[in-house]
Amino acid sequence: MPGFLWRSLRMVEVVVDTDVICSSAALTDGSAGVRFRVRLGAQILGAFAIRYRGRVYAYLNQCAHQGIELDWKEGYFFDMGRHFLICATHGALYHPDTGRCAGGPCRGGALVPLAVVEENNVVRLRADGARLINH
Ligand code: FES
Repeated sequence: MPGFLWRSLRMVEVVVDTDVICSSAALTDGSAGVRFRVRLGAQILGAFAIRYRGRVYAYLNQCAHQGIELDWKEGYFFDMGRHFLICATHGALYHPDTGRCAGGPCRGGALVPLAVVEENNVVRLRADGARLINH
């Protein structure tokens, strides 16, 4: 086979960065978050990332009260004062930096955190055993 034909049929390697949740610019402090999905074992679960006091945090999108998604409008998790994450269903409040219950029906519960890292202007999933599915 001539070298020319071989080169034209050669596979091009494409590196897909599957751990990137979003750009850093997509997360504004105390404002809208970014929803994404993760595979944890055999389950595919909803999750979200938010920025609070300059740092990025991510949690499964499951209220500790009844397991319902929190956002009161898609991608919006903060309460009016922008100090807590709030569940739209019954008003459970969570500390944005720990996910621990701050009031309401979550009583002693907590959101499930997902480890993330922000570097080179992107936010990446770093949770052990969790794989990003899509955005
Ligand atoms: S399901 Fe979230 S407060 Fe009840």
